[in-house]
Amino acid sequence: MTIHPLGLDPGLCLIGDAWCAADSGDRLPLYNPSDGSVLCEIAAGGAADVDAAVAAAQAAMAGAWGRTTAMERGRILHRMHRLVLDHADELAQLESLDVGKPLKQGHADVVGLARYLEFYAGAADKLHGDTIPYQNGFTVYTLREPHGVAGIIVPWNYPMQIIGRAAGAALAAGNAVVLKPAEEASLTALAFAEIGRRAGLPAGALNLVPGRGPEAGAALARHRGVHHMSFTGSVRVGRLIQQYAAENIVPVTLELGGKSPQIVFGDADLGAALPVLISAGLQNAGQTCSASSRILVHQSRYDEVVEAMAERYRALRVGPASDNPDVGPVVSNRQKGIVEDFLGQGGDLTRAAEADIAADAPNGGAYVRPTLFACDKPDHVLARDEIFGPVQVAIPFSDDEEALAIANGTDYGLVAGCWTMNGPRQMRMAKEIRAGQVYINNYGAGGGIEIPFGGVGLSGHGREKGFEALHGFTRVKAVSNFHG
Ligand code: NAI
Ligand code: MG
Repeated sequence: MTIHPLGLDPGLCLIGDAWCAADSGDRLPLYNPSDGSVLCEIAAGGAADVDAAVAAAQAAMAGAWGRTTAMERGRILHRMHRLVLDHADELAQLESLDVGKPLKQGHADVVGLARYLEFYAGAADKLHGDTIPYQNGFTVYTLREPHGVAGIIVPWNYPMQIIGRAAGAALAAGNAVVLKPAEEASLTALAFAEIGRRAGLPAGALNLVPGRGPEAGAALARHRGVHHMSFTGSVRVGRLIQQYAAENIVPVTLELGGKSPQIVFGDADLGAALPVLISAGLQNAGQTCSASSRILVHQSRYDEVVEAMAERYRALRVGPASDNPDVGPVVSNRQKGIVEDFLGQGGDLTRAAEADIAADAPNGGAYVRPTLFACDKPDHVLARDEIFGPVQVAIPFSDDEEALAIANGTDYGLVAGCWTMNGPRQMRMAKEIRAGQVYINNYGAGGGIEIPFGGVGLSGHGREKGFEALHGFTRVKAVSNFHG
């Protein structure tokens, strides 16, 4: 099987306005995690390709893209939005094949990508500086300028959504982009780059170098011609990105996942909470930065919640992405190994429920049995570390103090959800939980691309989504004009 995203040869890089093979000629295989087959080969880009892409981005900033007005940038992004919708079915299929995500999740991700482009298209010409009252004789104002060349490294779990939130905002703010997709899933990144070309982005405004992390990724993050780095992925690589950026003194935005809790208080509306407790943990087979992998439950409702969750777990359909199951495979056999290592460390906990894998799921697929653990040790490795698979732990607590202590008791802090009808408790939790986003009586607000997103602690720093991201992709210049 060979795939041609939007009719393209999948084995190429986009540098300037030309699709070309990696300088070395190397390629690497992309796998379908639903059955382990090879989908196609992509370019294994390296330092020479990154050099060329950064040079093309610099030339774009000095040339046509640098002169493109904010209004015109918005119009180009609007055309990209339109093209994404025109190719919605193909994009959903590509993402589903490449990542192993259920087709309906692929469609939801297309909607997410389209919304980012629509939002940032509309925002491009509404981003501006301030005038600042100062001493007599001065006029003081600020200019919001793009950083220049924005390097963006994305992971494999939500390629389209993460490309939309990072590249959409970077382009709206006037930066030129060099994008490095993950070696596990690159197909929709190729399609996105082609959509940018077809929508009329000038040459070099958006460049794409697929390839391995330690090669193409490291070359990009270390490159002296890059002025801002955005990275989403593991803490391990996030640390490297920050170190590389330190060499060149460039700002970084890091989104490094989490161990996000949902807290079910004694007065929670369980009917509303239950489906969300599970879907927020198992969406995309648990491979979501904001996955709710810890369920904290007041002891008065603990048995009831664990039993109700267990019942739902046992009914989950786990199988190939094309069957639109509740839970698909994880992205690769390597990721399956990571998740199974964690499961192996849960021997001292009670397995409250496990789901079965469909009997006809292909043998070579990267399937993991979704597992719910009852866990009365908040410091247990399964309650503390990011697993990135279909695994949740349910932890009891006795009062609000303890709920907060457990919620804040990991090194991460990305997202938290609270289920309670008590107003003062809602306010207190929202204030005292250490996380970049807090949801009350919901989790994720349907994905709201308008809502600023990012972490504290090991979850990273910088904010993406909404208008906040545009501030991250610009720097402020202050001008003080003395005219007497
Ligand atoms: P990773 O951090 O290695 O991969 C993410 C991206 O970084 C990919 O594009 C990869 O090519 C690139 N990369 C890898 N090494 C690099 C380097 N030395 N320099 C520059 N770029 C590099 O993550 P991986 O290995 O795919 O997954 C491991 C764990 O990371 C997961 O189990 C999960 O816990 C976490 N993760 C979190 C994500 C999130 O959404 N926050 C997304 C993906 C993984
Ligand atoms: Mg990796």
